[in-house]
Amino acid sequence: MGFWSNLFGRKPKLDHEQQIISPNGRIVVHVKLKLGQFTYSVKKDGKIVLRESGLGLNLQGEQPLKQGLMIVRIQNKNVNEAWSTIVGEQRVIQNNYSESAFYLSETVENGRMFTVRFRVFDDGIAFRYEIPPQPRFQRLIISDELTEFNVDANSNAWRIPAYQPDRYEYNYERLPVYALASSVHTPLTIETPLGHTISIHEAALYNYGSMTIKLNMNNRLQSDITPLSDGMRAYVDLPFNTPWRVVMIADSPIELVTNRIVLNLNDPPKQDFSWVHPLKFIGIWWAMFVGEWTWAPGERHGATTEHAKEYIDAAKRLGIEGLLMEGWNNGWEGDWLQNGASTDFLSPVSDLNLDEVANYARENGIKLIGHHETVGFIDNYERQMEEAYKFYADRGIFYIKPGYAGSMMTIQGRKEFHHSQAGVRHYQKAIELAAKYHICLDVHEPIKGTGIERTWPNFLTREGARGQEYEGGALLPSHATIIPFTRLLAGGMDYTSGIFDVSNVAKRLASTLARQLAYYVTIYSGMQMAADRPRFYEEVQPAAYEFIRKVPVNWERTVPLLGKIGEYYVVARQDRNTPDWYIGGVTNEEAHRVRLNLDFLDDDITYTAEIYRDSDTAHYRDNQLGITIETRKITKADNLDIWMAPGGGFAVRITKS
Ligand code: NOJ
Repeated sequence: MGFWSNLFGRKPKLDHEQQIISPNGRIVVHVKLKLGQFTYSVKKDGKIVLRESGLGLNLQGEQPLKQGLMIVRIQNKNVNEAWSTIVGEQRVIQNNYSESAFYLSETVENGRMFTVRFRVFDDGIAFRYEIPPQPRFQRLIISDELTEFNVDANSNAWRIPAYQPDRYEYNYERLPVYALASSVHTPLTIETPLGHTISIHEAALYNYGSMTIKLNMNNRLQSDITPLSDGMRAYVDLPFNTPWRVVMIADSPIELVTNRIVLNLNDPPKQDFSWVHPLKFIGIWWAMFVGEWTWAPGERHGATTEHAKEYIDAAKRLGIEGLLMEGWNNGWEGDWLQNGASTDFLSPVSDLNLDEVANYARENGIKLIGHHETVGFIDNYERQMEEAYKFYADRGIFYIKPGYAGSMMTIQGRKEFHHSQAGVRHYQKAIELAAKYHICLDVHEPIKGTGIERTWPNFLTREGARGQEYEGGALLPSHATIIPFTRLLAGGMDYTSGIFDVSNVAKRLASTLARQLAYYVTIYSGMQMAADRPRFYEEVQPAAYEFIRKVPVNWERTVPLLGKIGEYYVVARQDRNTPDWYIGGVTNEEAHRVRLNLDFLDDDITYTAEIYRDSDTAHYRDNQLGITIETRKITKADNLDIWMAPGGGFAVRITKS
């Protein structure tokens, strides 16, 4: 008999079947122990979501932890609690689930032990492996994770490929599950033949490789944990809990958008984060993308004292709280992607007097956002990291945008994937160090979102998908109608919205002007960039800019209105600090007319709606600036009819009048 059965003094079960039922009774996980194998399957409303799926781990130098199992103890409980976000898409989040933990042991003498803990919510399921110290060993090397998600292979999946040079930054493709020839990233959103829309993802990723998904030999989807350079998936000390494996389950794509399971599976913060402050910011940034300025010092250098002061003045006039400064330090000369091994994060370049700029920002009430482009050279960065964070904090700079460009990281002299255990550990180090200095982060080329911002709210936003910097041909109009149902299920994104110079030949956008405003509502981010140069807001399109001035960053409530993955998406959100509502809508390369139900508004009130929409002749190819700005009186009983041009969109601000 195994160690745990002695421990618990109960008769172990060699055969067992049990249902774990969601609070509303609609989702049922069926777990089964038979012939020593422990498996699970999932149904919603009696219809299969996942067929019988295997569980287990491969351990280096050991037999797989998968067979010859018995259950030595089962613990069941129900939880229903509410908690509040500091920053987010929704203030109050309900966490309501049924939990069963199965303590498993191998039946052999001195058998190894682990627990599988399931949580079943009304909108999905989650489970994780928990490995206690074993009588024989205290550490282990996980060489593979054998978790299956046995979805009907005829389902359609929205995928981006994993293990590619540009990390998560790809256009999504819709493919049948059986055609997923190589590993793909999560959240992996899948439309099943029985009408469910599900998304496979993970929560609370710490000290482990991030999960990608592949088709295994049995044509089933299976976890493929990002390997380290030696091929192993994780080296862990015991006790160890893997991240949660999550399957969000909805009756329609639009229902997925407000799924909060991933946040719910993370712990509450362990320290005070009341200092975390979401904001909008402009940047010494897009001018570099269109070739007006450069990151590197020289005649057209962007981050000079003079430009920084001009931008601080502009931010103040624009009602924007923050200013990002890229190209402020040494390392940008020549091919900067090659310079990462020696980048200096402690010395501003000679034409930038950082102290003077920091003082000027403080006097004018503008918060500076520092920049650390590591190019993935973690060894070089970690040598300077604490000093570099302190350097900013000492100057009153409490926001940093770290970047990890480059297809691999260099960690302890080895090339590692950003999403390997080594990468995950680095990102975590940065988040914890930032918290120590009360610094908020906007991470580019980040670790993917797994809800850890619940525990670390200073992780305000991240990139982690193809964003607007890919404009100029590489970003498809459909992209913005796909990410709300895929990438954004993993948390906010710094999409760098608000480019008004849409037709610049150096970087032409597949977007209308009105669509640039829509993004502030359709793409949640705890830090929202107004990414263009200030003159485009103040001089070229001041009327359209008014929407950016007013739109908030932090939300009370989110109400998705309409959506079809890859075609269109419309969402309403209520400001956290006022009763005002905002609506954003985007379409793909086709025009789309929407009729919006305004049920979410209060009864018996006449509201004023400021509408920023595509003009009747707007088009993302040849009339990008065609915008109509109008004001209408509306009530809850009205429907709002709005036409979106090809590659277009709209934004609405609704206030009580
Ligand atoms: C890629 C980031 O996404 C972008 O925002 C940044 O400007 C460049 N790297 C340079 O750091």
